[in-house]
Amino acid sequence: AIAEYNSTHADTIKVIALIGIAGTTETGNIDDLYTLRKIADEYNIFFHVDAAWGGSVLLVNKYRDLFKGIEKADSVTFDAHKLLYSPLSMGLILFKNPYDLTNIMHTSNYIIRPDSVDQGRFTVEGSRPFSCLKPWVTLKIFGTSGFEILFDHAFMLTDTLKDLLIKHENFELLNNPELFITNYRFVPESVQTKIEHIYQRLQNASPQDAIRLKKRLTKINDILNEMTIELHRAIRQEDNSFVSRTMLESTRYRDQRIVVLRAITINPLTTPAILQEIIDEQNKLGLKIYNDFKNRLSRV
Ligand SMILES: Cc1ncc(COP(=O)(O)O)c(C=O)c1O
Repeated sequence: AIAEYNSTHADTIKVIALIGIAGTTETGNIDDLYTLRKIADEYNIFFHVDAAWGGSVLLVNKYRDLFKGIEKADSVTFDAHKLLYSPLSMGLILFKNPYDLTNIMHTSNYIIRPDSVDQGRFTVEGSRPFSCLKPWVTLKIFGTSGFEILFDHAFMLTDTLKDLLIKHENFELLNNPELFITNYRFVPESVQTKIEHIYQRLQNASPQDAIRLKKRLTKINDILNEMTIELHRAIRQEDNSFVSRTMLESTRYRDQRIVVLRAITINPLTTPAILQEIIDEQNKLGLKIYNDFKNRLSRV
């Protein structure tokens, strides 16, 4: 795709960098960073890894494997205000080759002169607060062993939530969580059966039937999207727990965009029992809301 783009846009814009994501914002999944590095090398372009969300997990040795290939990046960002549990805002960027920083170098005559040792020559900001105090203190207090406790707990909670959702008849899991982010939605058992049935029929369907079945599936998902938005509102109204909501192209229903609930399980005070309570509450709210959607869903 890069070669094709470069050849058709030779006179305009060329691809100069490739960006991998280590912990995507919506699903927490990690790109295959080795493969991306190879592609970047093939085209001799810069390789950046956006580890803003997940990068801090690298502090714990036993989880380093998740980020295989990150060491090959030309630069990496990570945010202390995410998984370092520091206050906003503390975004960091690391460069493999310090001379790459000269691309943003700037100087002035009254300060940060060309021969100055002031690091301000290499920052986008001018006057800067003592922001690094925040992650420094966090690291001093927690240490890597503290982060190990935090991340072990977060991984345990993520697995617990995943299991609860898989076992529950009225929920559908929509990602394979790698880093503490779980996407799911409330889908009553009868609707799940209906969807399953459509998929089974699709296997041997004629092209014409396949179009009809896919239309039905799209319609069901359109209604479920509305229902998930309603459920999200109800959860916020109830105010006992918080999950965010997003819309994504899940593998199962590609290319349709699916509204999902997005739970981030990094609170060290959350327990498996609390997760169970949250799912019970969401199920109760979901069933109530389903009453308003039942007729429309049954007609599809
Ligand atoms: C993968 C990723 N990159 C970048 C950002 C931007 O973060 P910020 O503007 O807080 O530095 C986010 C925020 O959620 C993110 O998840």
